[in-house]
Amino acid sequence: RLVEEEENMMSRCMKKTVLSVCFLIAACGKLMKITGPVTVKTSGTRFGAWMTDPLASPRNNRVWYMDTYTNSKVVREYKSMTDFVSGLESRTYYLPFKWAGTNHVVYNGSLYYNKEQSNIIVKYSFETGRVLAQRALEYAGFHNVYPYTWGGFSDIDLMADELGLWAVYATNQNAGNIVVSELEPETLEVQRTWNTEYSKRNAGESFMICGTLYITNSHLTGAKVYYSYNTKTSTYEYTDIPFHNQYFHISMLDYNARERALYAWNNGHQVIFNVTLYHVIKTEDDS
Ligand SMILES: *[C@@H]1O[C@H](CO)[C@@H](O)[C@H](O)[C@H]1NC(C)=O
Ligand SMILES: *[C@@H]1O[C@H](CO)[C@@H](O)[C@H](O)[C@H]1NC(C)=O
Repeated sequence: RLVEEEENMMSRCMKKTVLSVCFLIAACGKLMKITGPVTVKTSGTRFGAWMTDPLASPRNNRVWYMDTYTNSKVVREYKSMTDFVSGLESRTYYLPFKWAGTNHVVYNGSLYYNKEQSNIIVKYSFETGRVLAQRALEYAGFHNVYPYTWGGFSDIDLMADELGLWAVYATNQNAGNIVVSELEPETLEVQRTWNTEYSKRNAGESFMICGTLYITNSHLTGAKVYYSYNTKTSTYEYTDIPFHNQYFHISMLDYNARERALYAWNNGHQVIFNVTLYHVIKTEDDS
């Protein structure tokens, strides 16, 4: 649907313009700028994850909160951002397996997470409290073999964007460089895989927007979005997109397509950044 909308905008734009370049603020596009952050709350340890579901209906803005990166299976749920800020919890879930890292994602009512000390991905339904699927992510390093720069068993990063569900990890076969796989949300089967040349251990974090993976170069002060990999064209680019790492240590950074925002866990602070996407279309002047 998004792609169709985007193509309509493009053709309209092309008909109207006689200039050689047409800029669009489109439904999907390239990351240009990161603004903020706004600090939503200060809570928990230095390392954790929090998120909303990009596929939830607009009236439903539940927040999920998973403090710490190891030895825990407790997920806290809040009915809204306001309840989250005031600490009014609506439900607590006890997962069947402990998680590893902070790179979980909630997508279409289910939590996807990496089971501790394994390369197994678990799909857990909040509605039924059951595991709907679990599957090993073949060849994926785990348990601090290929973590992000901060460590914390952050080997396997699950994320969602406008196009679907993704896993970002590294393998020996790709020399410890980042591998991106598109996952089937029901079965967790890998549908397609791309190999990048960016070392996972030198990446601070990564997030996916419109099928492009963006990688930061550090989790510390001065971090910026340094490299991007477009899965549509299988090409990479070096980028220089700064963002304000207000509390000096980022252990989670994930894009939410519904809100067009980045959720981050910044040293025990839950913060949100806004992103600006642009579509640049070059047109030929035939006349
Ligand atoms: C979300 O889940 C519903 C069923 O609960 C399903 O019908 C729908 O196709 C799912 N959407 C996506 C994008 O997976
Ligand atoms: C993001 O943009 C929205 C709408 O313009 C605004 O309400 C919100 O405060 C912004 N958030 C951040 C983190 O800048």
